[in-house]
Amino acid sequence: MQIIPRLALGALLAAALTAPALAQTEITVQHPLPLQSHYGAGATALKEALERATGGRYRVTIQRNDNEREMIESVQIGTLDCTITSTGPVGNFVPAVRVVDVPFLFRDYAHARGVLDSEIGQQLLGQFTPRGLTGVVWLENGFRHLTNSRHAVNSPDDIRGLKVRTMENPVHMRAFRALGALPTPMAFSELVPALQQGTVDGQENPIPVIVANNLNQVQRFLTLTGHVYSPALLICNPAMLQRLAAADRTAFQAAAVAAQRANRDRVTADENTGVEELRRRGMTVTTEVDRGRFQTALAAAFAQYERELDGALLRRIRDWR
Ligand code: PAF
Repeated sequence: MQIIPRLALGALLAAALTAPALAQTEITVQHPLPLQSHYGAGATALKEALERATGGRYRVTIQRNDNEREMIESVQIGTLDCTITSTGPVGNFVPAVRVVDVPFLFRDYAHARGVLDSEIGQQLLGQFTPRGLTGVVWLENGFRHLTNSRHAVNSPDDIRGLKVRTMENPVHMRAFRALGALPTPMAFSELVPALQQGTVDGQENPIPVIVANNLNQVQRFLTLTGHVYSPALLICNPAMLQRLAAADRTAFQAAAVAAQRANRDRVTADENTGVEELRRRGMTVTTEVDRGRFQTALAAAFAQYERELDGALLRRIRDWR
């Protein structure tokens, strides 16, 4: 065994203590849901993939902020690096995105994922650049369903007069108005108090959100309307991405793809078990929904979307196989 003389050992220790620490760049990602949710799964996959690929030179900090509009504003002005958000308020920043918020546009998950992964999704991501944002990758929130505390909703007639919290999204609000509801837009952060105080009777969100946020504690009736697919996105500050060395930017993009995979896998898993879980927690679930009747009731709103949004793109998405 080699014995290191006491003096040499002291010098080694001193050198280790004074050596510059490995420079580490921190990237903060905020999203509006609990860590064990489908957004949390995406954020965690991004963190693990990027930190592994860069040998720890980057550290991703994940934080919760349940005000999506506020997060997007922060990314735009550069006080936040990235956000995972639904498209709820995104159309107010990047109007072209509103096209994917149209109710009953996507038939199922395969249709939605296929379109968003195609050149249509890529072109929509390109629309973020002139707005001072980078749309990095499409993620997923899921098909939205209606919950309320008043009565079981079996048909569009049962929605008349219901005060429904919607996202700050004019496309969704128009649909609820067409159904005779009273849409009340607010940030997700305000939802639970509004339901508790009776400011609104109901809300609409995908199964993974209803499960992860225990909305069964404030809502009794769930109807599987699946009235709109709710896409999500990883949006980052362009200047932050620009500062990354080219190889690190490639690693970041690969980590974003890992996030997409983990997020979608989690939505699929939650969809498989979530409805049963909500029944177990005491919700009354209406599964037999005549979606054709809802679409008929939305005829006036559909005509308006054709006029106000990109009608040709809407038809292309609808016909996508
Ligand atoms: O209802 C919303 O605002 C969104 O679906 C949520 C829950 C913040 C997830 O993006």
